[in-house]
Amino acid sequence: MLKDVVLKSLNEQIKLEHYSANLYLAMSSWCKVNGLDGSANFLYAHSSEEMMHMHKLFNYINETGSMAQVSAIDAPPMEFKDLRDVFEKTFEHEKFVSKKINELVELTFAEKDFSSFNFLQWYVAEQHEEEALFMGILDRMDVIGFDGRGLYMVDKEIGKLATVSQPQ
Ligand code: FEO
Repeated sequence: MLKDVVLKSLNEQIKLEHYSANLYLAMSSWCKVNGLDGSANFLYAHSSEEMMHMHKLFNYINETGSMAQVSAIDAPPMEFKDLRDVFEKTFEHEKFVSKKINELVELTFAEKDFSSFNFLQWYVAEQHEEEALFMGILDRMDVIGFDGRGLYMVDKEIGKLATVSQPQ
C-alpha cells in the first residue's frame, strides 16, 4: 500500500498524463483541419504515448494494492495561432510535466518510498527525451523557416518523427 500523500500525488500525475494525451489529440485535430498532415500524425501518435504513460502509473498504483483513480479532465485548448504556436505549447507543457515528475521524485525520496522512487526513474528519463524531442522540432523550424515551401517542409519533417501511423 502507498502512503496517502504519495498516492494522492501519483493520482494527480495520472490526470496530468491523461490531459497531455487529450492536449496532443486536440493539437492533432487542429493540424489535420489546417492541412498539416505530418504534424497531425506525429501528435496523434504522441497522444497514444501519453496514454501509455498514464496506464503505466495506473498499473503501478494498483499493483501496490492502492486505488488508481479515474478523474475528470479539463478540456484542452482547441485553437492555435500557427504551427509554431502548437509546438511552443508542447515544449512548455513538457517542461511543466518534468517539473511535476521531479516534485514526485522528491516526495517519494522524502517519504522513504524507494519502490515508487525507483518506478519514477523511468519518467525522469522519458521527460529528458521528450523535452529534447520537442526542442528539436522547434530547432528544425528555425533552420527550415516558413518562407515559400517552408511550412510544407517543416510539416513533412515532423511527420517523419511519428512513431505509429494514424488509422485511416
Ligand atoms: Fe507523459 Fe509527455 O509526458
